[in-house]
Amino acid sequence: MAQPNPKTELVAFAESVRTDPCAFIENTLNTDLFSYQQEIVDAVFSHPRVAVRSGNGIGKSLVSAAIAIAFLMSYPLGSYVILTSSTWRNIKTILFGELRKLVRRNKLGGDLQQEKWQLDENWAALCINSDRPEGFQGHHNQAVLVVIDEASALPDAIYEAIIGITTGENDKILQIGNPINTEGPFYNAFHSSNWTTLHYPSTVSPNVQRSKNAIPGLATQQWIDSIAEEYSIDSNVYRARVLGEFPEGSDESLIPLGWYEALPEDLPPSGDKVLGVDVARFGADQTVFVIRDNNNILSVEAHSGWDTMKTCGKIQQLKTEHDIDQVFVDETGVGGGVVDRLREQGVAVSAVTFSASPYDRAQFANVRAEVYWRLRQAIRAGELAIPKHVRSKFLELCSMRYKFNSSGRLQIEEKSEIKRRLTRSPDHAEALVVTYAEPPTVGVISLEEKAPQQAETLVQRINRLATVD
Ligand SMILES: Nc1ncnc2c1ncn2[C@@H]1O[C@H](COP(=O)(O)OP(=O)(O)OP(=O)(O)O)[C@@H](O)[C@H]1O
Ligand SMILES: [Mg+2]
Repeated sequence: MAQPNPKTELVAFAESVRTDPCAFIENTLNTDLFSYQQEIVDAVFSHPRVAVRSGNGIGKSLVSAAIAIAFLMSYPLGSYVILTSSTWRNIKTILFGELRKLVRRNKLGGDLQQEKWQLDENWAALCINSDRPEGFQGHHNQAVLVVIDEASALPDAIYEAIIGITTGENDKILQIGNPINTEGPFYNAFHSSNWTTLHYPSTVSPNVQRSKNAIPGLATQQWIDSIAEEYSIDSNVYRARVLGEFPEGSDESLIPLGWYEALPEDLPPSGDKVLGVDVARFGADQTVFVIRDNNNILSVEAHSGWDTMKTCGKIQQLKTEHDIDQVFVDETGVGGGVVDRLREQGVAVSAVTFSASPYDRAQFANVRAEVYWRLRQAIRAGELAIPKHVRSKFLELCSMRYKFNSSGRLQIEEKSEIKRRLTRSPDHAEALVVTYAEPPTVGVISLEEKAPQQAETLVQRINRLATVD
């Protein structure tokens, strides 16, 4: 009896993955896809350019990783998958993290490195950061698939580079993510006949459909309700994060007037007293001193035309007079001089740099956004009493706006913009907000898994079949 030809076997295997990738994912990757995930897989295998917009937590990253593996298996004689996303962390720990789990759990073999899965020469999945257009060059091969997770943040230059390497007839691009930007390649894909587009709100998640939270990490009804409550169902956050719709209109109000008006005028004293200072930069601006405890704004003073020496003297005086536990100063610009002088005098001061990296880098663009968001939470919860006589001073908080930047991180409108609208600087708001600059506790989660051993892996088998003459 004639031996089966290894090459024929390999071609048949590749062909079977190409024609029914969902079956490969189900049988070889042991992953039961939900029907909408199957639609995404089928779309990618039937069309060269697919864009998927959705709400959070529907299993986008996992299905993208499964598609990446299926694609490599459908072109085993040489192919590349390039994985990219808005941040390096997202590429490595989430997108490539899902791929690594699938490879290890199913003992697929190959050389699984931190940022690369090398199956053979010219056969690999690679992580490439979306700030490096040159990283996308030089991967012309039999077939290339580029997977762009969190695609709304994709810079134009990277998109151009990706288009440049996907000119072959088997090449594909998958753009997938939340629709948070109304410009750029992801947005354009939904307005172009070159792209096959799909759309899913978070409500497709099986945790919502089956009304029990069976799969951790996928959207739940409670999560959807919490977004509706925190931002309102008319907000752009709800549109993008839950409905999977592109934002409408402009930025959102940071603190709705209704919340501000509902704040109590006084609450029982609680906790230590802190002092926040916004040091005036220009002629018309005021240097503002705000003292608060956990619950109440206790004292507010504003002065024009003060130099840094006078400001330092005042801080020392207030510190003693009110038994202040911690002093916060925005150290940007002239505030830096005040911080230096106080330190020289041996006064402990917490210098706040608004433009610095926040503790929660996944959510916030900078410290400024993080501290304003903390203040917003306190106001929303009614946990800050503002006495009647200073109410009008802090009303400027209600004219501040926020938006999501191109990486999906929350950002407070630039001070120059607010200034233009208010026709003055929001000095009171800034003096109050610096007092919210305490770090929260952060935990570190390890995503590493142990690699299991196996006799012959799928990748070894394919390489063996390919090398037999
Ligand atoms: N078909 C599936 N079977 C089992 N688990 C799944 C399935 N799809 C997704 N998951 C798991 O659900 C969790 C969330 O999935 P994933 O991160 O892919 O969602 P996402 O839509 O990318 O989320 P986000 O919007 O936050 O980026 C992950 O732990 C993932 O492994
Ligand atoms: Mg994801």
